[in-house]
Amino acid sequence: MRVDESSLMVQLPSGPVEFSEADYPQVEYQRRQQFWDPIRLALFTLAIVVIIGIAIGIVTHFVVEDDKSFYYIASFQVTNIKYKENYGMRTSREFTQRSHQIERMVSPIEIFKRTSFILSVFCLFVCFFLLFSPDENGVNILVVLMFRYPSTGSAERIRTKIENILYQSLKTKQLPLTIDKPSLTLTSIDSKKMRNLLNSRCGIRMTSSNMPLPASTSTERIVQGRETAMEGEWPWQASLQLRDAGHQCGASLISNTWLLTAAHCFRKNKDPSQWIATFGTTIAPPAVQRNVGKIILHENYRRETNENDIALAQLTTRVEFSNVVQRVCLPDASIKLTPKTSVFVTGFGSIVDDGPTQNKLRQARVETISTDVCNRKDVYDGLITSGMLCAGFMEGKVDACKGDSGGPLVYDNHDIWYLVGIVSWGQSCALPKKPGVYTRVTQYRDWIASKTGI
Ligand code: ARG
Repeated sequence: MRVDESSLMVQLPSGPVEFSEADYPQVEYQRRQQFWDPIRLALFTLAIVVIIGIAIGIVTHFVVEDDKSFYYIASFQVTNIKYKENYGMRTSREFTQRSHQIERMVSPIEIFKRTSFILSVFCLFVCFFLLFSPDENGVNILVVLMFRYPSTGSAERIRTKIENILYQSLKTKQLPLTIDKPSLTLTSIDSKKMRNLLNSRCGIRMTSSNMPLPASTSTERIVQGRETAMEGEWPWQASLQLRDAGHQCGASLISNTWLLTAAHCFRKNKDPSQWIATFGTTIAPPAVQRNVGKIILHENYRRETNENDIALAQLTTRVEFSNVVQRVCLPDASIKLTPKTSVFVTGFGSIVDDGPTQNKLRQARVETISTDVCNRKDVYDGLITSGMLCAGFMEGKVDACKGDSGGPLVYDNHDIWYLVGIVSWGQSCALPKKPGVYTRVTQYRDWIASKTGI
């Protein structure tokens, strides 16, 4: 550090001088003031900034860099299967079975278990199957892979390394599908593209960092009754509200503009301009809010019998999909759930008969009940028609309730969620032998398609 000395000098008179007491402090004062001249001050500030900068750098290196995500699309051909029409339909059995077979094959757990790579880079991952397309040699398959590991080395080096491991692994494994090895390519994609790909699928739950939210997170927390939901756990859940009366009903997002709900929700008011829809795990504050532009009730909705209790509401502006707003999948018309299948109902409805609306979204695990049982004399005595689905427990205790109407009853098929029911009616809430009655969505699959094109 260089300091201009002249500025520190004090001009003294020549010859012997006597200092009066009062002169000393003044000189001291001047010296101190001159010590902090602009240049020193600037250098000092610079040094502090550099030190803080280095500290921030070190912290970010360990906190952020260590957890960097890398996204890839792997593409390869499978030569021993023929393309089937149904591969184009995500809900078909062919699609589901094949995709799981392929997911297992390229599963990073499998791959990295066998190599020392995991020790050096220790990866977290998600791997999911994306698309089948016909190919002259068989079927062309695209898989999206996501890895998280410390960013050691260049992106290209890491890509080549993963490609080699994937290639070696597919070569050495005893595979049920024959893979044309030279066709294997691995392409890096950025996080924006990854998000778009994730968002192109329905019924997916994600954390804010693109990681999948496993189905087990919901089941493990449920013992009995209803639990509040975590952020992003039920991203298709919407709250339908009247501008001057607040929450009225639940609804499910089935595209970026359409909500599916119950027709009885609009008994009091059918004017779209009076309604708004909110998303997120709390009603206030909502994560996202939209106006409703259109309401379509089922033409044959009967309030006396609750038949065809289904309606659509269209948002005036579409929603952006994210980890907190996502659409649910609609099941194929042909899908049948066996009795006692585990399903989830969610809503902002009351937790006791005639209680108030809840600000926090809640969930409950219930089980499907066959229509035969539900129509028994001691249950609903023949009131259940083909467009209805019963779910709950014969002993009662867990159920949807007032304010949950219109909301989703969902079924998890390998971490992809399907809307199987719409909260419709029930005698009181959670009474023994009076389970919840839901609109059976499969029955209205064609009606939904005819109105929305979905
Ligand atoms: N109809 C009620 C509502 O408007 C919901 C009924 C659900 N009842 C039941 N016990 N599952 O919110």
